[in-house]
Amino acid sequence: MLFDTHAHYDSGAFNADRMEVLSSMPEQGVGLILNPGCELDSSRAAVALAEAFPFVYAAVGFHPSDCEGYSDQAEAELRSLAAHPKVKAIGEIGLDYYWKDNAPAAVQQEVFRRQMALAQSLDLPVIIHDREAHHDCLEVVRSFPGVRGVYHCYSGSLEDAKVLVKLGWMLSFTGVITYKNARKALEVIDWLPMDRIMIETDSPYLTPEPFRGKRNDSGHVHLVCETIARVKGISPEEAARITMENGKRFFGIE
Ligand code: NI
Repeated sequence: MLFDTHAHYDSGAFNADRMEVLSSMPEQGVGLILNPGCELDSSRAAVALAEAFPFVYAAVGFHPSDCEGYSDQAEAELRSLAAHPKVKAIGEIGLDYYWKDNAPAAVQQEVFRRQMALAQSLDLPVIIHDREAHHDCLEVVRSFPGVRGVYHCYSGSLEDAKVLVKLGWMLSFTGVITYKNARKALEVIDWLPMDRIMIETDSPYLTPEPFRGKRNDSGHVHLVCETIARVKGISPEEAARITMENGKRFFGIE
């Protein structure tokens, strides 16, 4: 069974068939799914999905593209949502300097730091979104030595990966590693200790080859797993078993 450690089933892309798609996952070999939040509504929706499906878990947080909505009141609500037994992380949080209409870097960093502090006070791990902000993101991570986390859809350098592994962090990979231009990520995977790797789809986005361009769902996570197995020279079954164990250990799921 596979663990899709990052999928957005609260997304409007699943409005027509959310329950059917999720219900089909166990028979497609997907044993666990973690649904992160991007702001308050999606965090609430993630918790509701975790209540509806025994194999779905949630994270709550404000994505850097949605960080303008962060406030003391929002933080208080995140704190209360995080008390739910199926909320296993604060996320997804971080920095995104790619989209020009995102909040200014200073605002993103402030919201990111506040959520790192929240995770520390709740003793929860974090799920990091870092797009074209590698230097600043790592600086925030380093300033919270008590917080553990995962870089979702890792797109940084091998050098930064080595720093993160030394700090005890995990790296997670999406269908992007099946694309033709994935050479850098494959180099990182080749080096990365197997116990630091998690797999994800980031559904409905980042659909792996050969389905690129269509809506993504967790039924495609095996394509990510198979790519990792090929790079590591192990069987897909072994890669599935290890990434499942890694995800359960990281999120504290029995
Ligand atoms: Ni995401």
